[in-house]
Amino acid sequence: MKQEIEKIKLEIAEAIIENNETLEVFRLKYLSKKGQLQELLDKFKNLNGEEKRELGKPLNELKTAAESIWRDLKDKFENKATSETVFDKTLPTQGFTAGAAHPLKIVENRLCDIFYSLGFDIANGPEIEDDWHNFSALNFAFDHPARDMQDTFFIGDKVLRTHTSSVQIREMEKNSPPLRLIMPGRVYRNEAVSSRSNCFFHQIEGLYIDEGVTFADLKQTLYYFVQQFFGKDTKVRFRSSYFPFTEPSAEMDIWAGTDTEENKRLTKGTGWLEVLGCGMVHPNVLKNCNIDPEKYTGFAFGMGIDRITMLKYGISDIRDFFHNDVRLMSQFTGY
Ligand code: PHE
Repeated sequence: MKQEIEKIKLEIAEAIIENNETLEVFRLKYLSKKGQLQELLDKFKNLNGEEKRELGKPLNELKTAAESIWRDLKDKFENKATSETVFDKTLPTQGFTAGAAHPLKIVENRLCDIFYSLGFDIANGPEIEDDWHNFSALNFAFDHPARDMQDTFFIGDKVLRTHTSSVQIREMEKNSPPLRLIMPGRVYRNEAVSSRSNCFFHQIEGLYIDEGVTFADLKQTLYYFVQQFFGKDTKVRFRSSYFPFTEPSAEMDIWAGTDTEENKRLTKGTGWLEVLGCGMVHPNVLKNCNIDPEKYTGFAFGMGIDRITMLKYGISDIRDFFHNDVRLMSQFTGY
């Protein structure tokens, strides 16, 4: 019997079991009621005490080994079978959610495209500025209220730029005319936050400096922009205005109408909506950048991107841009 145990031990160690069928053959041969192990156990019962003591342990070990081979392989084959049957290649996929460009970025890119098609290059500047680029070089008197703590965020002796006009100065200092640039970016103002104004927002600045540039060029450039961006028949008006860095200065309004409550509210009942400030670059500003105002003239304009985006998409609260709620953000398509 000892030899039989050894023989079976070898057999089961070398058994080749590759699937459920061969495993069942294994079970029938060794583990079933009519299997070889049961046969040995039956014989064991009839042994005398001495023999029982000798063979009990090896027989028991053989039984445990055979059972554990069977259990492990059964688990293995069952799991494989489950994953094979559950994986159905014909089921539809769950799809994936693609990211979307932020509406402010979509509008900024569109504005850049329009001016780029007119020959304007794109330039950028820093958001933390010095007094010179944000104010002094732009002809702000030293006691101009815009420098006041109420409007400007200060960081030590620097400021968070209050407008993109600072980039005009940086570009005019670096390059000599002709200059034709468009300059988008984020700006900061210490204002009470409401549905219409935020403490930071986005502007796009335009600058054109060359010999013989006139106010007519400015108007024609802006007419073109309005037609491209708001549509061919959009009505426009210019109102005279004041900026320290342009002379003469103007603000441009577009006609939104008063037919809806929303438009009445946005235009404060007038139907006209202010979209940008503009003017001919002040001779002092040119001088501050070492450009000869006797030889060169130029125009500049600046507009709020957030404002235009709200108008274009009918968004009534500027703060919605910065919650990054995907339910709103995913509604915009573009790049
Ligand atoms: N910088 C001005 C503003 O922030 C806008 C502007 C730019 C006006 C260029 C004239 C020329 O309001």
